[in-house]
Amino acid sequence: MVPPDQIRQLQALVGPGNLLSAQEDLWCYAFDATDHIQAPAAVVFPGCAAEISQILRLANRHGFPVTPRGAGTGRSGGAVPAPGGVVLVLTRLNRILEISPEDLVAVVEPGVITGRLQAAVEEQGLYYPPDPSSADFCTLGGNVAECAGGAVAVQYGVTRDYVLGLQVVLPTGEIIETGARTMKGVVGYDLTRLITGSEGTLGVITRIILRLTPRPPARQTLAAGFPDLEMAARAVSLILRAGLVPTALEFMDRTTLNCVREMLPFRMTQEIAALLLIAVDGHPHDVEERAGAMERFCREQGAGMAIRARTPAEAEVLWKARRVMSPALRQVKPQKISEDVAVPLSAIPRLVAALQEVSRRRGLPVASYGHAGDGNIHVNVLYDQKIPGEKEAAHQAVEDIFSLVRQMDGTLSGEHGVGLTKAPYLEMELSREAIALQQRLKRAFDPNNIMNPGKIFPPGRGRVTPP
Ligand code: LAC
Ligand code: ZN
Repeated sequence: MVPPDQIRQLQALVGPGNLLSAQEDLWCYAFDATDHIQAPAAVVFPGCAAEISQILRLANRHGFPVTPRGAGTGRSGGAVPAPGGVVLVLTRLNRILEISPEDLVAVVEPGVITGRLQAAVEEQGLYYPPDPSSADFCTLGGNVAECAGGAVAVQYGVTRDYVLGLQVVLPTGEIIETGARTMKGVVGYDLTRLITGSEGTLGVITRIILRLTPRPPARQTLAAGFPDLEMAARAVSLILRAGLVPTALEFMDRTTLNCVREMLPFRMTQEIAALLLIAVDGHPHDVEERAGAMERFCREQGAGMAIRARTPAEAEVLWKARRVMSPALRQVKPQKISEDVAVPLSAIPRLVAALQEVSRRRGLPVASYGHAGDGNIHVNVLYDQKIPGEKEAAHQAVEDIFSLVRQMDGTLSGEHGVGLTKAPYLEMELSREAIALQQRLKRAFDPNNIMNPGKIFPPGRGRVTPP
């Protein structure tokens, strides 16, 4: 717990109105998009890197935990505060400092909403591709800290592929710059990549240099409904191999589909067991040709229905239905554990079949949807904590799923990060030696373990003691 005199020092650092400590305010910053809740002792809203540096020096001196936070939309508990610590909210650092069409870069502060940058660069004929479903309300700082993915990663890659450089306040208070405003750069270790996806455990990101691309001239969206889940999963890997180069290749099963059915711009017959939602970017003529080929291909692979969005507005309705899938699943059961495992492309049909088996074994609905085009499937174990045994069964189902994924040479998290939720399972993927090395790296950045402690490393092994 941060003692009152240190809270007063924090108050003096950030100025009036920029610190909250009333119980009702603390609870507003106690959670993210998971079901984890841990209350902090104070919430601060710094206005610049220099203030953050002073806050971290204070924390480092007194040993209280600091958890950086953007919009709190994370899905692994990364922004859930260490109990009794300080939440450092970065929303006041919300300036787009520069958009350069000549250099194809943008320079932003971490509190900029992702969708705001996307709209601003589009006005200049440019494109910032990473598109987490929360783009309308998440922040770029959070995207970098978690290395957010999204639907168009199949063609364009994920957040880390766009981060050229960072300004970071280290836990010991120094302000450093990593990377450069260039597409290439190999001077020293790649700290930009290390910090991208480090989940707020190595420092506080205060400025980001992002790579942009020219805006693709055209995009088409099509939806294909399959009568059988595995048939859809097989079509995914065949589409990828056929050289049709989809921009996005999303998949959703019947349970998920039923939750968003009313939002769709077309009527769907009951026998659809899985839907593929596909986007194709490029020049208008080329896009037309590839979307047509994709449509034919899906029918050949057994799709009973393949429809192209007729207008950009219709396409947007489809993508909107896709973006709300995660919260929409709460219609089925009030609680859910959302995972974001990724498997090699050839394993997708096997994973989809095995998930049905897990669902049967544990007696719970397991709904899947997501970024099939890169093997990153959102597996949701749905349960009701008021029904005896369901919560335990849900956690057993998650362990079953992680074991399956590892047997398939996959990863526990494609895009949401380890955070709190997957920390207990880290050893299912990383060797003890690899974890120990990561802990030594953590200690080099953060000797007193003040930066977002309790995240990534397994409980009990995550304690980093001073040298
Ligand atoms: C999505 C989030 C859950 O793809 O990653 O909707
Ligand atoms: Zn996703």
